[in-house]
Amino acid sequence: MYYNWEDKTNTDELKVVCNLIKNGELVIFPTETVYGIGANALDENAVGKIFIAKGRPSDNPIIVHLADKRKIEDIAQNITEVEQKLIDNFMPGPFTLILEKKDVIPDIVTAGQNTVAIRIPDNIIARGIITYAGVPVAAPSANISGKPSGTNIKDIRKELEGKVSAIVDGGPTRIGLESTVVKVVNEIPIILRPGAITPEEIDEVVGNVIIDGNVFKKVDYSAKVESPGMKYKHYSPNTKCKLIYCKDDLDQIFYLKKYVKEYKGNVVIVGFKEHEDQLLVSEGRFISVGSQYNYEEIARNIFSALRQADEIKPEIILIEGLKKEGMGLAIMNRLLRTCEYDYIEK
Ligand code: TXA
Ligand code: MG
Repeated sequence: MYYNWEDKTNTDELKVVCNLIKNGELVIFPTETVYGIGANALDENAVGKIFIAKGRPSDNPIIVHLADKRKIEDIAQNITEVEQKLIDNFMPGPFTLILEKKDVIPDIVTAGQNTVAIRIPDNIIARGIITYAGVPVAAPSANISGKPSGTNIKDIRKELEGKVSAIVDGGPTRIGLESTVVKVVNEIPIILRPGAITPEEIDEVVGNVIIDGNVFKKVDYSAKVESPGMKYKHYSPNTKCKLIYCKDDLDQIFYLKKYVKEYKGNVVIVGFKEHEDQLLVSEGRFISVGSQYNYEEIARNIFSALRQADEIKPEIILIEGLKKEGMGLAIMNRLLRTCEYDYIEK
């Protein structure tokens, strides 16, 4: 079933949706980051359906979503002072914290690890569903494994219609990139996946922060990493992609034009609106992600733009990169994986 709550949550429908979750079914719902495919986190069979719907590798654990900080201790234990500070400052919000799990969380959720990733979304619809379902909700991003995450219902329906029991539409998501994932080791917060909560913000609260070395590195499938999600192909359209970032705007245009020529125009550029008129590609082959000066706008648009580019089926998608600072860090982490590290930086 499809429910549109973009303007207002319908309370009768809310009951239906929450019953579906309680009864072990899958529901797609909005959060402030990206849409999630939710299931009752305490129900092994229900969580198993998520892995099937997404085609997700079984060693990749799933984030458990709560509506309220007071529920954290139901599923996690031995919370340290540093972890508590992070909870106090960043939840609810686009922030996921990995904590020691309690036994109520089944192994399938955590891929057998003794930790559980916890997030409290800053979104009324998400929190309403979690509250009235009355259970913690396991939810990965709403996309087929390996594809860009779903940030609006039109994209999601094309990919996942028929694979879940209900789809709740809350409009395009506010942030557009998945949450910052953090694990505290020896009292130091380690960023395993950058997101809207930046290293600077975490440092300000804790006085310390490390970005995991694998965030900008190609990780081997057999590697042992803190977060299994790091090693899988992700955020990738079917078409081959190349990422281009030059500090100097003139260089940037030069390289883009060079590749447009090399591929005889059979390209799609996913780029900044300021560059559209300079790139001389044919009609429909430039997809704007917004202004090069507005990283929040780019974050909101990037996944949908990649999907749109893919539909045109060019020989290659050329993507404009940006500075790895602020939200740029999270965007570049995703884009490097989108292009499978085929990257030019000048
Ligand atoms: O913004 C978000 O976080 C979205 C929305 C729906 O909340 N969710 C999301 O989930 O992005 P997913 O499954 O697409 O990404 C979760 C990431 C994966 O890279 C996974 O490996 C990592 O978190 N993860 C989950 N549990 C973990 C754990 N116990 N230890 C280490 N990494 C974990
Ligand atoms: Mg995902």
